[in-house]
Amino acid sequence: MAGIQRPYVIDEMISAKAIAARIEVLAREIDRTFAGTEKLVVVGLLRGSFIFIADLVRELSLPVEVDFLEASSYGDQMHSTREVKILKDLRGEIAGRDVLVVEDIVDTGFTLSHVIRLLKSREPRRMEVCALLDKPARREVEVRATWTGFEIPDEFVVGYGIDYAQRNRNLPFIGKVRFPDETP
Ligand code: IMP
Ligand code: MG
Repeated sequence: MAGIQRPYVIDEMISAKAIAARIEVLAREIDRTFAGTEKLVVVGLLRGSFIFIADLVRELSLPVEVDFLEASSYGDQMHSTREVKILKDLRGEIAGRDVLVVEDIVDTGFTLSHVIRLLKSREPRRMEVCALLDKPARREVEVRATWTGFEIPDEFVVGYGIDYAQRNRNLPFIGKVRFPDETP
């Protein structure tokens, strides 16, 4: 049903306040892990991580460089296509550098495992991953973020950078999408 949007409602799942509190804790752990690095390369995976990376880097005390990578596996639907394409590559070099990959959600794991493989082949000195959300119940590929903001159940979520068909990225909280015409 491409192009046809069924009516849906958004129920708040994680408040803006809870996200901010969790980011403070994550930032302190990241600061500690990369202490002494000359300049950490923080790589945001577009587009879903743009708000998370903005808040996260402002909590870090480390010197950082910010770069972006766009990988696509979703299209505008609610299910992964399992095929990961690099739509926009990094601008900078990461060989020999300390890298933090910032992702919005780890779902089936296809996107993150593909990105990790690609970036590792460029031989960074150290690479860790910070994901805001993790849906472990949906995992098909064995992959784990070093840090996870919140583990969530198998629900389709939006807000705080995350979209449903390119909408709702600007919600300040994370909410779950519910279709009222569907029995739970
Ligand atoms: P994976 O390759 O299946 O792990 O998918 C990861 C990507 O799918 C994430 O970076 C998101 O962009 C997208 N995604 C996964 N779950 C959701 C969701 O609940 N809402 C919106 N996008 C999602
Ligand atoms: Mg994404």
